[in-house]
Amino acid sequence: MANRHFRVWRGDHSGGDFKDYNVEVSEGMVVLDVLHKIQAEHAGDLAIRWNCKAGKCGSCSMEINGRPRLGCMTRMNSFDPTATITVQPMKAFPVVRDLVTDVSWNYAQNKRIAPFKPKAPEADGSHRMYQDDVDRVQEFRKCIECFMCQDTCHILRDRGKQSEFIGPRFMIRVAGLEMNPLDDDDRVPELRHEFGSGMCNITRCCTEVCPEGINITDNGIIPMKERVVDRYFDPVLIAARALLGRKKRTKPKGTHEVQEVLEVPRPHEVPGTQ
Ligand code: SF4
Ligand code: SF4
Ligand code: FES
Repeated sequence: MANRHFRVWRGDHSGGDFKDYNVEVSEGMVVLDVLHKIQAEHAGDLAIRWNCKAGKCGSCSMEINGRPRLGCMTRMNSFDPTATITVQPMKAFPVVRDLVTDVSWNYAQNKRIAPFKPKAPEADGSHRMYQDDVDRVQEFRKCIECFMCQDTCHILRDRGKQSEFIGPRFMIRVAGLEMNPLDDDDRVPELRHEFGSGMCNITRCCTEVCPEGINITDNGIIPMKERVVDRYFDPVLIAARALLGRKKRTKPKGTHEVQEVLEVPRPHEVPGTQ
């Protein structure tokens, strides 16, 4: 057991301030455990959102010592034993009460994204997809919607451009659909005109805070920005597409990202081959 000093933000949408708590912390505790102890021993009305306590529901996002983190996955032994630990709500979203924020803006962004639009099946009735393509989009499916990437993105957090930029979490949701060769929707115009892909300046702060280790910037946002550039700003590709047509295509892992490529059939697309 060790006595630890916590500063926890208390208040609501009209304002608030930090309050100090001294808590006996035992081995193996995470920050969420300490907050529950504060609830039990000092402040029964302290509001916290949490569900799984296993890093999987994305509910317990908060800012711990100024950095977005999951309370349930932040071990007390990761801090200096004498340091004060500061806990506050996510800054990018309106406060409901204490550590609970209103993240409903994110759900509204999710609704703006058109759902998966399946391609027509092949002649034998199947839908084929390369394993490399499966692996690429699978990374984005690991998202637990903790919204810590949205919280840390300076476009939303500091510049307040919620009306112009959909944010990193939803850039990778679009990426997961756009990179899916079985999705028949063309998502590039929306990326540019509605979702604000050009706002991101690739600082990679979102990637640094993702608890699922998703390479948001390099694997999701940059390929989407490249597709927008190819579509709207590359004169050679624009001319070639006008002459020869365009097909949604991805390239196997380990090769350089190719976005909108000209129609070249894969082996299984050539009649008589598998
Ligand atoms: S890389 Fe882009 S989306 Fe991610 S935090 Fe930076 S500006 Fe925001
Ligand atoms: S991409 Fe990562 S940081 Fe962003 S919401 Fe999903 S899990 Fe959280
Ligand atoms: S309580 Fe579910 S992620 Fe922390």
